[in-house]
Amino acid sequence: MGNGANSGGRTRNVVFRIKRCDGPGKPSRWEAFRVPVEPNANVISCLNWIAAHPVTMDGRPTTPVVWDSNCLEEVCGACTMVINGRVRQSCSCLIDEYAPNDGDTITLEPMSKFPVVRDLWVDRQRLFEGLKKVKAWAPIDGTYSLGDGPRESPAQQHVRYALSTCMSCGCCLEACPQYLKEEDASKWDTAFVGAAIISQARLFNEHPTGAILKDDRLDALLGVGGINDCGNAQNCVRVCPKDIPLTESIAAIGRAATIHGFKRFFRGA
Ligand code: SF4
Ligand code: SF4
Ligand code: FES
Repeated sequence: MGNGANSGGRTRNVVFRIKRCDGPGKPSRWEAFRVPVEPNANVISCLNWIAAHPVTMDGRPTTPVVWDSNCLEEVCGACTMVINGRVRQSCSCLIDEYAPNDGDTITLEPMSKFPVVRDLWVDRQRLFEGLKKVKAWAPIDGTYSLGDGPRESPAQQHVRYALSTCMSCGCCLEACPQYLKEEDASKWDTAFVGAAIISQARLFNEHPTGAILKDDRLDALLGVGGINDCGNAQNCVRVCPKDIPLTESIAAIGRAATIHGFKRFFRGA
């Protein structure tokens, strides 16, 4: 197998151990590839190399490894996978940091909380269903001009901007001990929605127009699989690549949901 040893001595070989799966419901297996790595390479460029040279380390031809990606600049979340045991985006994962020496190994696995489509590519629809559950949008109707929207203070903008950077990557859900695994799919409908969804509910509750649906969101988060299922382990905030203050969001929604619950109780609703 070509190994790039002729590219000026700057290239080194890195071993990629990759958890592979041919499709939904199919068994998984591990395969290893020896990849010539240039300085500043990232995981995606190495996966591209493997796709062009689908031969395992022991010389066995195999199918090209499949993964998902889009923006290549840590904005879309599509390339999220588990790299050396930690969930993150593969486009921003530099080999020089993870495998600085010749012969180092990098392990790639698909996220465990979403169904595998193939190899490292997962289906994050479950996350988007969670966003629908809490109506994570500002309701505006029609394509005609509605005039100026309500004013938002710089302080509100500051809080909401941080929350708006969520790219629905799924890292916080992968790391959360309360977010059910893929094999528990039959219980997903009533399972914990996860930190990203709670934080997006906060984003839209604090939006001047989005606040119209605030009660619906809090009702959803007071119900099964809502805020009370958070065990406060705080793994979510540690892995969020956008540094979104997820535990702040969980606390803010927790307070709002408690007040909402009391009001509902005294209204008899
Ligand atoms: S605080 Fe813990 S249980 Fe709650 S969403 Fe974050 S990781 Fe999950
Ligand atoms: S909150 Fe952070 S970790 Fe969770 S989906 Fe959004 S960007 Fe990803
Ligand atoms: S390809 Fe979009 S975040 Fe990596």
